[in-house]
Amino acid sequence: QDPRIQKISSAIRVIPDFPKPGIMFQDITTLLLDTKAFRDTIDLFVERYKDKNISVVAGIEARGFIFGPPIALAIGAKFVPMRKPNKLPGEVISEEYSLEYGTDKMEMHVGAVEAGERALIIDDLIATGGTLCAAIRLLERVGVHVVECACVIELPELKGRDRLGDKPLFVLVDGA
Ligand code: PRP
Ligand code: MG
Repeated sequence: QDPRIQKISSAIRVIPDFPKPGIMFQDITTLLLDTKAFRDTIDLFVERYKDKNISVVAGIEARGFIFGPPIALAIGAKFVPMRKPNKLPGEVISEEYSLEYGTDKMEMHVGAVEAGERALIIDDLIATGGTLCAAIRLLERVGVHVVECACVIELPELKGRDRLGDKPLFVLVDGA
C-alpha cells in the first residue's frame, strides 16, 4: 500500500452518533486542515487518472465539490457539478435515488457534457452506493462513458461496491 494512505486515513476524524445515534460519521474536514495529507489525497487521484483520457470530472454535492475541482484542473478535465434538486439555474436532467428513508434527486445541467465524453465521478464516501449509481445513470443517459468512480472513503460493510455492478470503484481509505 502507498505510504501516504495511512496518513490520509489518520487525518479523517470519526465522530460517533452524528447525525443520529449509531452512525459513525467520517469527517473529512480534518483532512482538509492537514495540508500534506490533503495534497497527497489529490495527488493519488491525479496519478491514477492523468493519462486516462478523461474529459469530465463529475463531482457530487456536497463533498465531491471539495475533491473534484483540484483533480479536474490537474488532469486537464472540466468540472461538472452533480447537485441536489432545484439548485442549478439552467435546464437540468435529474435522477431519483433511494435514501434510508424516502428518495432524493440529483441534477446535472443539460449541455454540460457531450455524448462520447469520458468521465470520472468523485465523491467523499461510498456507503450503500445509491448516490454513485444515480450519478452513473445521469451521465450514461446522455451518452457519457463513466470510466470509474472514486471516493476517499468506503464503508465496505454496506456493500455499495456490489451495487455498482461492473463499474470500477477506486477508494483510498477503508472506513470500516
Ligand atoms: C453522503 C456522502 C455520499 C453519500 C453516500 O452524502 O457524502 O455522498 O452520503 O451514501 P450512499 O453510498 O449510501 O448513497 P449525503 O447524502 O449525506 O449528503 P451531503 O454530501 O450533501 O452531506
Ligand atoms: Mg454526499
